[in-house]
Amino acid sequence: MPSNKFIAFALAAVVAAVATLAIAQDVTKTPDPALAALTPEEMVLKRQAIMKEDGGILKGAGALSGADAVAAADHLVTNFSNLTALFPEGSAVGETGALPVIWEKHADFQAIFANAVAKATEMKAAAEAGDADAYAASIKTIGGFCGQCHETFRKKKEQS
Ligand code: HEC
Repeated sequence: MPSNKFIAFALAAVVAAVATLAIAQDVTKTPDPALAALTPEEMVLKRQAIMKEDGGILKGAGALSGADAVAAADHLVTNFSNLTALFPEGSAVGETGALPVIWEKHADFQAIFANAVAKATEMKAAAEAGDADAYAASIKTIGGFCGQCHETFRKKKEQS
């Protein structure tokens, strides 16, 4: 008959495996398929709106905890995932801050969004675990991605 210790160990392993599975699913979160049907003009407006929303979420996230913090992080995961679908070739139209270098270095550009999805997933896990330090650190790292990308890929204010 297995000892209690063994059962506890086996249970812990199952819990860990389930947790890993949940995280892996979030990281590979697929963008909303409906976005692909937008016109380039609509994509510009949509991505600008999402970016603005992200700024607001990040600004307020530090003061949140519990379910609100989880929801904020989850919203960021969704938004960054959706952003990966909103910069197809040919979508630098109208009033846009998008620079042509986005499509010359598209893999680098998309990689920043992928990193942001991964970090927001960590932020969510930290919020779920009630780990305030890890949560705050994730917010800071995600904030860094905004500037890192804008530096190279977005028109400076005076250019737009
Ligand atoms: C991988 C690149 C990338 C990342 C990461 C990124 N942005 Fe952007 N951002 C852009 C580009 C490109 C534009 C210009 C989009 C357009 O006008 O078509 C933009 C535009 C914006 C705008 C202007 C929207 C408007 O109305 O014109 C804001 C605000 C903004 N981003 C905020 C953020 C914030 C906050 C973050 C981080 C949470 C962030 N962005 C992360 C690339 C990025």
